Amino acid sequence: MAAKQKLAILISGRGSNMLAIAHACASGELNANIVLVLSNTPDAAGLESAAKLGLKTAVVDHKDFASRAEFEQQLNVQLDEVRPNWIALAGFMRILGGAFVTRWSNKLVNIHPSLLPAYPGLNTHARAIEAGDKKAGASVHYVTSELDAGPVIAQHSVPIYPQDTAQILATRVIGIEHALYVKALQQCIATQYS
Ligand code: GRF
Repeated sequence: MAAKQKLAILISGRGSNMLAIAHACASGELNANIVLVLSNTPDAAGLESAAKLGLKTAVVDHKDFASRAEFEQQLNVQLDEVRPNWIALAGFMRILGGAFVTRWSNKLVNIHPSLLPAYPGLNTHARAIEAGDKKAGASVHYVTSELDAGPVIAQHSVPIYPQDTAQILATRVIGIEHALYVKALQQCIATQYS
């Protein structure tokens, strides 16, 4: 059995994807250990959930830094302490600059609530409904310096129904995100050893 991969997860809020990944690590479904859950917002609910599971948590509040570069330098200080093989962005609501992305290139992945390349950025569900799309979904992709544009690792779609609101659709999409993220990370880890 290959050595467990070290995984850091960056969050900004609820952290339901982080929890799904944590459960997959605990059950052995994912051959990884979470070495750090880091939030850029001190009051992210996911921090408390992670701490309850006994995971190491940290806050690097972007508001404490004058520039993106200084914020990211502090992210690197935290990450260098735990030396992750993978960094999973899970509802992390800061855009990461080119130097950070290059530093962690091929180790940095993100989940985005649309069928990329459709709808990078925010308000994906409202935009899909507005456009009259018949399906929506989520994508896990490698992070590059272009927003939500890196190579897709895995995607899963859900239907859009005529009465859907953005909120209803968001609930349907988050329902498939958790398993999708675990599957994509399994794929990442497997390719590491192939
Ligand atoms: C998810 O919809 C994810 O795709 C997006 O932000 C949301 C995070 O949800 N990037 P959670 O914090 O994992 O519950």
